[in-house]
Amino acid sequence: MIVLGIESSCDETAAALLCDGRQILSNKVASQIPIHARYGGVVPELASRNHIVEVLPVVRSCLEEAGLGLPDIDGIAVAAGPGLVGSLLVGVEVAKALAYCVDRPLVGVNHIEAHLTAPLIDYEGPQGLSGTPNFPYLGLVVSGGHTHLYEVEAVGSYKLIGATRDDAAGEAFDKVAKMLGLPYPGGVQIDRAARRGDASAIRFPRALPRKDSFDFSFSGVKTAVLTYLSGLDTLPEESSEAFADICASFQEAVVDVLVNKTFRAARKHGFKDVVVSGGVSANSRLRARALEVANSNGIKVHIPPIRLCTDNAAMIAGLGHHYLVGKKGAGFGQSGLNASSRLPMGAH
Ligand code: KG4
Ligand code: ZN
Repeated sequence: MIVLGIESSCDETAAALLCDGRQILSNKVASQIPIHARYGGVVPELASRNHIVEVLPVVRSCLEEAGLGLPDIDGIAVAAGPGLVGSLLVGVEVAKALAYCVDRPLVGVNHIEAHLTAPLIDYEGPQGLSGTPNFPYLGLVVSGGHTHLYEVEAVGSYKLIGATRDDAAGEAFDKVAKMLGLPYPGGVQIDRAARRGDASAIRFPRALPRKDSFDFSFSGVKTAVLTYLSGLDTLPEESSEAFADICASFQEAVVDVLVNKTFRAARKHGFKDVVVSGGVSANSRLRARALEVANSNGIKVHIPPIRLCTDNAAMIAGLGHHYLVGKKGAGFGQSGLNASSRLPMGAH
């Protein structure tokens, strides 16, 4: 079964074609970073307008790369939420129009659920991090809007056991990057600068270390960086050792909490497989620490390659496949599908 996936929940317009929910035939992303960078963050109105410009060329280039035409696809999956409603609407309406044109079933899926199940796709992963997870697994989704820990029984069966009480981890990365004068999006810039720094140079706080809670909090560490910076006479030069030390120390505080809580939960609930996904799982220190702690606990950790960690449509097609298989009846291919900024998980 060949599924076309479409993703437009934030600032990436993406399309992908997947065979049987696992094999990537093509996977394309048109990034809007240069458009939003001058404003220091995503401007929702500009994002939706640009999705309109990009969405059909991205779908077309996916089909071309796979050597397929629209009639060759068996179903369409689209991210219907959560995200920016104006942006989501572009993908949802295009998906509905395409499904109508070729008379194929359509399913709206949840973007976070797609991150959580992304490692079910076949990929050539980095050493130690690849391989399909076995159910049940523990999944940490760390993105710009979410830091959520789920027990995953099967596709469609999830139990939330922890979440951030304030900022998402990615939001903290982006806000601290802004304080440091780094361009948007800041997470990857901090990651880069941190490689030159000493992670033990400054001891930033690790919030909610209580053993019985799997909730997270990142506003404290963000404020601690702000307080630290306001105590300095001037902001260190980006190329300086002091600047790299701040980045490395902040990153270490965030990664410490993410890794410690996730693997404590895995041990407590006896999980042998752990998934880490979402944009922040592109972070090199998080990937290295997760692998290290997993190995020392006899746990297998699955973190996809970066193109499947950050926003993409392969994960949308992969998840959509599970819902489309064998369910072509009522409720699928519907014209009533709508975008929602607070979409529940499951098929829509
Ligand atoms: O999943 P994603 O692409 O979009 C959302 O669903 O939010 O995640 C975006 C987030 C941003 O906050 C971005 O700064 C962060 O992921 N991010 C990183 C890295 N690459 C992306 N954070 C830390 N280190 C990175 N290498
Ligand atoms: Zn995302």
